[in-house]
Amino acid sequence: MKIALTYNLKKTDSSKPADYFSEFDSEGTINAIASAMRNKGHSVELVDAESSLLLNYFKKTRIDLVFNIAEGKSGKFRESQVPALLEYLKIPYTGSNTFSLALALNKAFTKRLLNAENIPTPAFQIFKTGKEELDGSLRFPLIAKPNCEGSAKGIALKNVVNAKPQLYKVIHELKKIYSQDILVEEFIEGRELTVGILENGKIKVLPILEIDFSGCATSGEYFYSWRMKEYQGDEKLGLLPKFYCPASLDKETEEKVREVAVKTHLAVGCFDISRTDIRLDKDNIPYVLEINPLPGLDPNESNFPLMAYAAGMKYDDLIEAILSGAAERKELN
Ligand SMILES: Nc1ncnc2c1ncn2[C@@H]1O[C@H](COP(=O)(O)OP(=O)(O)O)[C@@H](O)[C@H]1O
Ligand SMILES: [Mg+2]
Repeated sequence: MKIALTYNLKKTDSSKPADYFSEFDSEGTINAIASAMRNKGHSVELVDAESSLLLNYFKKTRIDLVFNIAEGKSGKFRESQVPALLEYLKIPYTGSNTFSLALALNKAFTKRLLNAENIPTPAFQIFKTGKEELDGSLRFPLIAKPNCEGSAKGIALKNVVNAKPQLYKVIHELKKIYSQDILVEEFIEGRELTVGILENGKIKVLPILEIDFSGCATSGEYFYSWRMKEYQGDEKLGLLPKFYCPASLDKETEEKVREVAVKTHLAVGCFDISRTDIRLDKDNIPYVLEINPLPGLDPNESNFPLMAYAAGMKYDDLIEAILSGAAERKELN
């Protein structure tokens, strides 16, 4: 097949905040995906989704399928931008459609849907102005995070708070930087899990990955903060997460975790691939934090490939599975 790989490239720009490009992909990831597809016999063109010539490129070039990892330029619906253009031009692409991408990027809307489907998710409140009265039913500790970001952007140790004054301070700081609604939710102390799903004709749940923060005492960051994602492995900073795949869970808990991930994937309407982030509380209730329809695919560092390797897949097979999932749908998303 002739494939176009659409992406947004991670850059370095000291005039921008440190986490500005965190959602975007490195040249290494982009090249790894392209080589994986070439190894399977496809011809591949790299297409920078940042380019103003994007529309022209797709109008002029005949492409069988787009492998889309583009996170989009900016705005609350950014992940839907490339899919919207492809839908307009009737070009099939991998992964979720405009609707699911926009929905999953909005944590609060996703959580309302999870509540309606009886999928456990931490109790929450949205702060639009930052001056709202705190919902009295919410129990501290609470965590505040931007409602429409990913890659742990804006998530730091200080976001986990035990009292109202701290909470309002963090909300105001986040609002100032990210100019969007702030999601406040109950902080679930417990184990952190993430569940990968590949949908290639039928749904396949990959071995569950546990991220263990127990070795992070020096930093005190027992969760996936932005610093944790960015500097993991740094001993001095105390950012030493350990990864276990498959996670060691009793059969009943494992089944519950798999089930909530599948239900979330289906409720949000994801296609081909998704990764659901979960916290397991002390009673082993799996609380869904969010679903990522465009999970990172760095062959060495991202969570999703780790889970595929644990399932016995090679990186090239993972990329081919996503591709053939989309090709077999034989319909526009
Ligand atoms: N309610 C919560 N309880 C416990 N940890 C949380 C909660 N919300 C976020 N976190 C921590 O912060 C990380 C990032 O939050 P998440 O909602 O997944 O946002 P992102 O889109 O940035 O990945 C999670 O992986 C988890 O470690
Ligand atoms: Mg997450």
